[in-house]
Amino acid sequence: MEHNDDIEKIIDAQDLTLPPPEREPQRQYYFIKKCREFIKRKSEESGRRLTASVVTFGCQMNARDSEKLAGILECIGYLVTDSEESDLVIYNTCTVRDNANQRVYGRLGVLHGLKKKNPHMKIALCGCMMQEESVIEKLQKSYRFIDLIFGTHNIFKFAELLCTMFESERTVIDIWKDTDQIVEDLPVERKYPFKSGINIMYGCNNFCSYCIVPYVRGRERSRNPEDILREIKALAADGVVEIMLLGQNVNSYGKNLENPMSFASLLREAEKIEGIERIRFMTSHPKDLSDDLIAVMKESRKICRHLHLPLQSGSTRILQAMNRRYTKEQYLALAEKIRTEIPDIAITTDIIVGFPGETMEDIEETIDVVKKVQFDNAFTFIYSKRTGTPAASMPGQVPEEVVKEGFDKLLKTVQDTARSRVLRWRGQTMPVLVEERNLQDDALLTGRLSNNTIVHFPGDASLIGQIVNVRLKECHGFYYMGETVEL
Ligand code: 5AD
Ligand code: SF4
Repeated sequence: MEHNDDIEKIIDAQDLTLPPPEREPQRQYYFIKKCREFIKRKSEESGRRLTASVVTFGCQMNARDSEKLAGILECIGYLVTDSEESDLVIYNTCTVRDNANQRVYGRLGVLHGLKKKNPHMKIALCGCMMQEESVIEKLQKSYRFIDLIFGTHNIFKFAELLCTMFESERTVIDIWKDTDQIVEDLPVERKYPFKSGINIMYGCNNFCSYCIVPYVRGRERSRNPEDILREIKALAADGVVEIMLLGQNVNSYGKNLENPMSFASLLREAEKIEGIERIRFMTSHPKDLSDDLIAVMKESRKICRHLHLPLQSGSTRILQAMNRRYTKEQYLALAEKIRTEIPDIAITTDIIVGFPGETMEDIEETIDVVKKVQFDNAFTFIYSKRTGTPAASMPGQVPEEVVKEGFDKLLKTVQDTARSRVLRWRGQTMPVLVEERNLQDDALLTGRLSNNTIVHFPGDASLIGQIVNVRLKECHGFYYMGETVEL
């Protein structure tokens, strides 16, 4: 993957007088070429280059998918921009909590207004939210101005679906229930030239009782290690210094491969690839985190000092109802083991408040874990009922006042511990990967420590993409102000 030049040659060689190939990804190369002719004609008609924009909701996995969508759009001739005042806008949606869905509906209203001004505008929707039947019904009934709708399993068909859309007067809808296909080697347009996500597995088999992901992303499928390592090598050759290995539960990577391989072994192999300076991964499930993984992280020069380890709840009773398959004590023991082995690691987490049946005592248990583990950061969410999940039909949906009281108390604890954790780096000089110009102040650059803490410091934009040493001068809650240091 990512060798866009090689792909270009194959696309060029497609013969559109023949019927489309059956095999993937060859079939998509054919449709890319076909789309190109369409876009070229449309551009000539309108006397300007057509523009497109991809809007991402949700997680890192979706962000990576959006890079694939942008890759196709760019490849067929669109100018990809950030503006929703474009000739084509695609929303890559998330449905993990209902507020993500509501945001999509809200913004679709705005898009409808834009489409009235530009009747040639095309609007497409894809991603996790589209895998829900009720969503599709609602869109068909009340959002008839949408041109293309597809889901998570057939995203690799984007070029083909676009072709169908260009040829159709009506909304094109193609949603698959599942797939066992993994189609790679399509064009990708990375958001950052120097860092990239890499899917190592798709789907999830955990079935946490609150979570919709297994229903919208399907069963767990690991990619072959050779394909992953080949992709990382190509990325390194293309100037990438930081990679993030992506999966819903990376710790169970490789279990179902023909030749099983553990996540720890995959990391060992990735470490050897020259040019890659930093390796991150997301997300870890505590129940599957092995001693071997801790050992690899400890030995490694490249694996970042950051572990995102979702707790969800500190109450064993609630954890059981959530089907998390660990207890409060097991989580505490695991966190302590990690902190002992790798003292400079940052541990971050996700917590849900308001799961059915949860009481203030349960929330106190969670607060107790936050205090004991001293998370470097924690994302706290209010439980959102997802239709079709086991938790949605559990008794004891929690009243809003209890949720609010618990949430506020938890948030305060989380902020206090995080602040004191981040503060402990003050005065030190640490390597920072420079990511971008500061969004508020042009004279500043923004980058990230290995432990994921954000640092702002004065510097020239030519440093973007490089790893520089920065002295951490002032701590502002979750981020630092610093200055570069020549060592
Ligand atoms: N309600 C609230 N939060 C949820 N998450 C997943 N499902 C739900 C839900 N139904 C949170 C979990 C997960 C993160 C990505 O989103 O904390 O780790
Ligand atoms: Fe949202 Fe989950 Fe889909 Fe990511 S995988 S976009 S968090 S529903």
